[in-house]
Amino acid sequence: PIPVIIDCDTGVDDALALLFAVRHPGLDLRAVTCVAGNTDVDGVVLNTLTVLEQAGAPEVPVARGADRPLIEFSRSARHVHGEDGMGDLGLPAPRRRPADVDAVTLLRREILASPRPVTLIPTAPLTNIALLLRTHPEVTRNIERIVFMGGAVACGNATPVAEFNVWHDPEAAAILLTAGVPITMYGLDVFQRVVVPGTDVRRLRENPEPGTRLAGELLAHRPSAPDITTDPEAGGIGDAGAVCAVVDPGGITTRLLPVEVSLAPGPTRGQTLVDRRPRPGESELHTGTREQALVDVALDVDVERFAKLYLSTVERA
Ligand code: BDR
Ligand code: CA
Repeated sequence: PIPVIIDCDTGVDDALALLFAVRHPGLDLRAVTCVAGNTDVDGVVLNTLTVLEQAGAPEVPVARGADRPLIEFSRSARHVHGEDGMGDLGLPAPRRRPADVDAVTLLRREILASPRPVTLIPTAPLTNIALLLRTHPEVTRNIERIVFMGGAVACGNATPVAEFNVWHDPEAAAILLTAGVPITMYGLDVFQRVVVPGTDVRRLRENPEPGTRLAGELLAHRPSAPDITTDPEAGGIGDAGAVCAVVDPGGITTRLLPVEVSLAPGPTRGQTLVDRRPRPGESELHTGTREQALVDVALDVDVERFAKLYLSTVERA
């Protein structure tokens, strides 16, 4: 199995990603690290432990990370993810406890201890990852790839042009992009498209097994937009799509493109500027000496393929 670490802000769709990761036989989930984003970091830790317990996952170390972005204040997305940050489903408190080390320490330890290079899957603001890369740059020698959910080629969600995870901590995203490791950007353009049909959501919700039922409840909390599907009960898998892309990279179409984060104050802050001009040399002329990253940007996704992969995995009890 592929050794992976998920860095998340659980989060309804981060929870969907965790359920998938612990149930897919091709993945070895070595750690989960938490960061402020959808809700405050203590809420994220609690939600993460709750999901792992409901899923009946083997003991996975979970660590608390940054409680705010590098230079800004936290701006939660409770209006999307509920008061508890995970859909207010009233789940019992977990018996599991977080690790006694912080997220950056756990990330470093697990990455360097892994017998095979690790794939990092951040599905949240990139604060923990930026701190890791700046504090312990030696970790890059045992990172296979970073597949992150964040950014957008076309339009944003937190602002007209910026996607939430990058917008929440743009400096951290800029540090990630120039880390010098292979990076896949699973951005909003593909993220929003992968939905599970309403009939499947209903079936999951009726499943007596707690982890599978939880996936159904979470999907029911993520109705998809009318421009994506006309099925009113379809549910988006969100962040889980980034984990699908690790298991099944053929499900997305990517192109290696220059990407830069807008750090300027004002309406473009947090935008990912993806350079799709036909002659890449031109971009250098316009960006001067700035470090510019080449990133595998997901431009298309096979929606049915990922929806099937998601369902067949979470329904394995
Ligand atoms: C991202 O922001 C969060 O609300 C979701 O969990 C996802 O990671 C989408 O912009
Ligand atoms: Ca998330």
